[in-house]
Amino acid sequence: MFLWVILVASFLKSSYCDDMDGGKAPRFRMNDGKTIPTFGLGTFLGFDEKGQKEAEENEVENAVTWALDAGYRLIDTAAAYRNEEQVGQALMKTKVPREHIFVVTKLASNEKRDVVGALRKSLERLNQSYVDLYLIHNPVSFTPDESAFEVIDYLDTWKEMEEAKNLGLAKSIGVSNFNISQMERLMQNCKIRPSVLQVEVNLNLAQYELVRYCHRENVVVMAYSPFGSLFSHDASAPAPRTDDPVLVELAERYGKTVPQMVLNNLVSRGLVPIPKSVHKQRIEENIDIFDFRLTTMDLETLGKFNKDYRVVNPSFWQDHPYYPFEKVDNPKPDPFKGKKE
Ligand SMILES: NC(=O)c1ccc[n+]([C@@H]2O[C@H](COP(=O)([O-])OP(=O)(O)OC[C@H]3O[C@@H](n4cnc5c(N)ncnc54)[C@H](OP(=O)(O)O)[C@@H]3O)[C@@H](O)[C@H]2O)c1
Ligand SMILES: *[C@@H]1O[C@H](CO)[C@@H](O)[C@H](O)[C@H]1NC(C)=O
Ligand SMILES: *[C@@H]1O[C@H](CO)[C@@H](O)[C@H](O)[C@H]1NC(C)=O
Repeated sequence: MFLWVILVASFLKSSYCDDMDGGKAPRFRMNDGKTIPTFGLGTFLGFDEKGQKEAEENEVENAVTWALDAGYRLIDTAAAYRNEEQVGQALMKTKVPREHIFVVTKLASNEKRDVVGALRKSLERLNQSYVDLYLIHNPVSFTPDESAFEVIDYLDTWKEMEEAKNLGLAKSIGVSNFNISQMERLMQNCKIRPSVLQVEVNLNLAQYELVRYCHRENVVVMAYSPFGSLFSHDASAPAPRTDDPVLVELAERYGKTVPQMVLNNLVSRGLVPIPKSVHKQRIEENIDIFDFRLTTMDLETLGKFNKDYRVVNPSFWQDHPYYPFEKVDNPKPDPFKGKKE
């Protein structure tokens, strides 16, 4: 465990910190002096034919409870996920002390006219007096009714994020889905630097350049959609799947499962993966990765799967001036409810 921790810490300027939170994952120290667990639970339920999935009764509450019992100490939610109440219920009922839990929520893209007000609403739904981390969910913005794009400079939004931190409503602040040039512009024009960038990172989307930039600037990178297309049924999504011979051989050699290898790869790169599951057994499986270490050669083998392919590719927003990703010729239809044009 000790050697392993040294290895992970060496990827970040921020040092590993031995906070006794009773959890399974070690913590990193962030650029604002606070600490963050190196592993967490995602809670976004995704889409079905009708649009964004609504949580069933207790679905997310149970997942968070199982996660806390299994040694997770970081929970990732967002106003846009419409499940903060259920996260709050789990936080209220658990025996794990609040100060040992790292709660993350996000400012939705239609809430940017009043950031502190939006955070207070999230806190009400979470039944909390603070969150550990508040993120700008996306540099793109919409009007409050989500009927149209709105152009709000993320530097202005950031000023209010700083106010939220100064008020103690968010212990740390950061951003999500920002690209390198947006990160640079933010870094050069802020009073308080972002502590975290949450972006997609997985086997197909290694994000070497963005991760290198953030680690050099002492910004922790949270890896969302850490499984990429590993479990995908979409034939157009690139390999590998869970039955990939390279992954299976590797997993067998370490006595671990393929999902565990994939998550360990991200932690070994100094990232904070936040895999989502609503199944108890998978929630337990996913965090059971802190008892082995991939060799440099095996990390290189896994690195070869990179294709710069995004699972989360909201090209339907690409005409917004702050759209962070590469533009495409045929943007996809918007799966979210409410038309954005
Ligand atoms: N900031 C952003 O814009 C943004 C965007 C996307 C995601 N996120 C965050 O990142 C979290 C994770 O990303 P994600 O939900 O997109 O994808 P993910 O965590 O990579 O994959 C989730 C999928 O994998 C399945 N799964 C999980 N563990 C498994 C296992 N051990 N074996 C087999 N299947 C397993 C889950 O199914 P079951 O649940 O049925 O087990 C679910 O279908 C989100 O929940 C959210 O909190 C943030
Ligand atoms: C909020 O949490 C407190 C305990 O911290 C509890 O007494 C109260 O009932 C909760 N409120 C709601 C709305 O869940
Ligand atoms: C980053 O985002 C800006 C919008 O703020 C955009 O103009 C630029 O093209 C993006 N960079 C990349 C590499 O996509």
